Amino acid sequence: MNRSQTGIEGLDKALNGGIPEKNIVLVSGGAGTGKSTLCLQYLINGASKFNEKGLYISTEQSDKELKKQAAGFGWDLEKLEKEGKIKLAYFDVTGGDSFMKRIQELFDEFKPQRIAVDSLTTLTDSLMISDMTDETSFSLVQVAESVSPIPRTEQVIAKTILYKLIKEIREFGVTTLMTSELFEGITRLSADGVSEFITDGVFLLYYWEIGEVEEHAMKIRKMRYTKHEKGVMRYSIENGITLKKENE
Ligand SMILES: Nc1ncnc2c1ncn2[C@@H]1O[C@H](COP(=O)(O)OP(=O)(O)O)[C@@H](O)[C@H]1O
Ligand SMILES: [Mg+2]
Repeated sequence: MNRSQTGIEGLDKALNGGIPEKNIVLVSGGAGTGKSTLCLQYLINGASKFNEKGLYISTEQSDKELKKQAAGFGWDLEKLEKEGKIKLAYFDVTGGDSFMKRIQELFDEFKPQRIAVDSLTTLTDSLMISDMTDETSFSLVQVAESVSPIPRTEQVIAKTILYKLIKEIREFGVTTLMTSELFEGITRLSADGVSEFITDGVFLLYYWEIGEVEEHAMKIRKMRYTKHEKGVMRYSIENGITLKKENE
């Protein structure tokens, strides 16, 4: 089986070599746990170490903000973008464009080997609203009718949109990371409560403070088609995500 290496040493080891190719992996955690950093690192390592093109679909940070974040870690995202190895696509969730249509176009044009969707949470929330008028993709009415006779609650529609979105992304056949926001005190693995079941893997990211010391840890909660580490692995975010040696 081919594997998509993250380029993060301890993580690849914990994955028995890397993410099984074509897997869709949910990166779930609270604010500031390092979800966007992990996505950036995955694509940047892909481009610079493994000669694989990466598409970053962002709904939260603009191209400029992502470049600033990368630069803070010493990564030249701008250069990789100019070389055509990484494409940053900001999707304005307040705008009216059809998301699926646009990423299909981006995919056909750019042909990436890696994709990051950051974040699934803002995206599905906004698809509820922005694509309501677009009959070519996620028409709210169409979706609602397709799930009938289930009551057309917002929640059912949101979940249906999510299924459809993940199904379409799966058809690309490309290893994909998707972030999901976890709010404190919630015991589910994703904000929506379903994506952990339809994705092939789940990375759970934790964060806590002891006095002035910040602690980060992650867990591979699920990863289809491979053996993997089950325990909690501590990491730091200084030069990007680095797993601590004690995990080995
Ligand atoms: N350029 C940077 N340099 C140093 N630390 C950073 C940088 N960018 C982010 N961080 C640290 O990483 C943390 C997580 O950032 P981020 O990956 O954006 O989190 P999330 O996407 O989970 O909200 C930040 O709160 C900060 O402590
Ligand atoms: Mg983020």
